[in-house]
Amino acid sequence: MTENGISEPVTAAATNAVLATIGDIGRHEGHAVILRGWLYALRESGKLLFPIFRDGTGTIQGIVPKAAVTAETFETIRQLTQESSVIVTGKVRADKRAPGGYELDVEAVEVVQRVPDDDPFPITRKEHGVDFLMEHRHLWIRTPRQSAILRIRAEIIKAARDYLDDNGFTLTDPPILTPAACEGTSTLFPVDYFGDEAFLTQSGQLYIESTALALGKVYSFGPTFRAEKSKTRRHLTEFWMVEPEWAYAGLDDLMNLAENFISFIVERVLTRRAADIAVIGRDVTKLQAIKAPFPRLRYDEAVAMLHEAYDKGLAPDLIQSRFEYGDDFGSPDETYLSSQFERPLMVHRYPAAVKAFYMEPDPVDPKYALCVDVLAPEGYGEVIGGSQRVASYELLKKRIEEHNLPLESFQWYLDLRRYGSVPHSGFGMGIERAVAWICGLEHVRETIPFARTLNRIYP
Ligand code: 4AD
Ligand code: MG
Repeated sequence: MTENGISEPVTAAATNAVLATIGDIGRHEGHAVILRGWLYALRESGKLLFPIFRDGTGTIQGIVPKAAVTAETFETIRQLTQESSVIVTGKVRADKRAPGGYELDVEAVEVVQRVPDDDPFPITRKEHGVDFLMEHRHLWIRTPRQSAILRIRAEIIKAARDYLDDNGFTLTDPPILTPAACEGTSTLFPVDYFGDEAFLTQSGQLYIESTALALGKVYSFGPTFRAEKSKTRRHLTEFWMVEPEWAYAGLDDLMNLAENFISFIVERVLTRRAADIAVIGRDVTKLQAIKAPFPRLRYDEAVAMLHEAYDKGLAPDLIQSRFEYGDDFGSPDETYLSSQFERPLMVHRYPAAVKAFYMEPDPVDPKYALCVDVLAPEGYGEVIGGSQRVASYELLKKRIEEHNLPLESFQWYLDLRRYGSVPHSGFGMGIERAVAWICGLEHVRETIPFARTLNRIYP
């Protein structure tokens, strides 16, 4: 046994095999390795067995000719059931036809736990309904496509954090339990806080505005909660948001940051997760096109596009009525707009009346807010929402009152405008929306290990 209680394969010493992972199996070409994983699938063809193993970093096909192993080893592999845990020893061989470029000439297998025949792994390679899969999400994530998505998600998060860390932003963590709303437009989850009512945070923004005035350039990254009873494919009740906030920055700085940030993330995924992108079958040419600068349209110009679409019947399935000037865009409107461009579209200067209370009015025409939404291409809709923040104490106080927000709860937030107020700006990017777009997924439920939606909180 090793320190961590996992038994060494008996053959390890004999063959000098080294512990390896499928993800970087190429480093071991021509050598014997030990893989610790699970049986994903098994095919039998006469005197040959083709087990496919997975270990969390990828999958690899093994080859087991009857003549090459002991009778016992051959029989053990032949009897393996899907998702049995196994420690496999074998030699790595390059094979151009193999999906990952390598195959394993299996020498020995140690079965850690054999899944019993009378209680097989519930998710087979046949089609299952979404409800069944979500009910078994704890097991579904083992399948190659779902594992690939989760690795890409991790890469997106790392890229987002690396970009901000390397560009002078300091991570500051806002609280999750909060006394009041941030996004007036969305609904809150209440929590009993020792007899007082508190809420799960909708956004760290208000808190990182204060850390930005302390540290200059900051960001938060954490879970956020929205209680709207929405069933759309873009809505989760619990999702992760990365929010940069930047003192002395205006809307143009913010838009430049957003396009560089997104371009960096997509480029990272393309270089580091090419194998996973291939597993999920994502069209890479669509991602290769994502390079700053991104097109920018004023809200008014975007509305003109929607009107044209309606008047000329350009997208009858999406645009079924004439867009009401002054409304916020609905999902179908965003889908239409974002599918008109190959790069993310930045829509800025919405009418202040449809946006949040904290947005700075445009000095050129205060009817508009200095805000931006970034709409991902191919119809994926909003991935980023952000704005310049109201800097004036008087105006902010007035806005809080107009929105019927409890002034007492916002005294600390108003302090930021009492003591050294400066223009400052920030945005939030929903990780799951970004993953859905970059992976080309129909629904955000596959972008997070355990999605929380209106109808599901299990497992
Ligand atoms: O546009 P939102 O509501 O903006 C804010 O919360 C700002 N306070 C952020 C800021 O300026 N610091 O949300 C930002 C992003 C959206 O663009 C979207 O990507 C994601 O968060 N998002 C959701 N993702 C999944 N499910 C939901 N219910 C989401 N609501 C917003
Ligand atoms: Mg928004």
